[in-house]
Amino acid sequence: MKKRVGVLTAGGDSPGLNAVLRGVGKAALEWYGMEVVGFRDGFRGLMEDRTMELDEETLSGILTFGGTILGTSRDKPHRMPVGERVVDKTGTIVKNYHKHKLDVLVCLGGGGTQKNAYRLMQKGGLNIVTLPKTIDNDIAQTDVSLGFDTALGIATEAIDRLHSTAHSHHRIVVVETMGHKAGWLALGAGLAGGADVILIPEIPYDVRKVAQAILARSRVGKPFSIVAVAEGAAPKPGVRAVPARKLPRARAKSASVDRTEMGAQQVGHAMHLAEQLEALTGLESRVTILGYLQRGGTPSAGDRLLATRLGTACAALIHEGVYGVMVAARGTGTEPVPLEEVVGKRKTVPRNHEWVQSARRVNTSLGD
Ligand code: F6P
Repeated sequence: MKKRVGVLTAGGDSPGLNAVLRGVGKAALEWYGMEVVGFRDGFRGLMEDRTMELDEETLSGILTFGGTILGTSRDKPHRMPVGERVVDKTGTIVKNYHKHKLDVLVCLGGGGTQKNAYRLMQKGGLNIVTLPKTIDNDIAQTDVSLGFDTALGIATEAIDRLHSTAHSHHRIVVVETMGHKAGWLALGAGLAGGADVILIPEIPYDVRKVAQAILARSRVGKPFSIVAVAEGAAPKPGVRAVPARKLPRARAKSASVDRTEMGAQQVGHAMHLAEQLEALTGLESRVTILGYLQRGGTPSAGDRLLATRLGTACAALIHEGVYGVMVAARGTGTEPVPLEEVVGKRKTVPRNHEWVQSARRVNTSLGD
């Protein structure tokens, strides 16, 4: 009997999702002779039974496309917004899984998706295989997650380009990357782009130390600095902020942001940091928030390769009947990791990580 495989993409979109759909789908269909059905918009599509046929034709030509042809959402099976209410729809999802006579459901997503998939396995008894995707690179048990390499390239290029205005106008440029809980993107792009200061959630900062580092550069004839800051970076608890009366008027340039409350808070942090640095150093400061640019467009060669490795390994595991696992990237290979070892853990940047040490050795301030 041909195995039937259901696939969905959940959580934020990310470069490489289509490449991995292609990897799983082509290997499943053509190499292993399985049947594949896609569900639209994450767990919501499975709940509402909205499908997309994934055949040779649909899977062709999508390797380089950004986003996901299936669509995605952050909806959770056990807390699904339905009209005005939030309802547990696990039962409906389990029913639809059986209606489609699935042998396994493949879930592509970040930390939240791993958790939701694990819940479906535990509460609903479904066969599940997951794949790690997030530009934040914070999924436990995998060396790297899909989308990170592309986002790293985009953020690094942005820092490279921002050097022009920082250098020419003798300014501080605060550039904010994504990463609420983990600083991999700010740290990686900051290192690769030669940022002078890197601020990440794992290392709370003291704005006065940051200002000292910037002033030290000025004294040796470099009156400009790039500050790469992760969106989740925060000051050390108890460290005094610069008094408001000393702060100059905010100068927001090129911050392409949404108008939601979250967007406003986010801009608020980066702007406040820039204002404080301007007040403490006397250098004009500007802010650039990279936002969703980091998640968009064509995946890098590294992400296409990773997507194809993980996707085809996923099909091989399904062929062998290995379920309840995430397909992790380990060295040059891949490994199935039991989902219970993945969920509820977050891979943050260890304070003694090699990247942190390298940053310090090239005299990059981490604000601590
Ligand atoms: O999870 C990845 C991520 O890019 C985070 O860094 C960011 O905070 C979040 O997604 C925002 O995504 P959205 O606005 O689409 O929910």
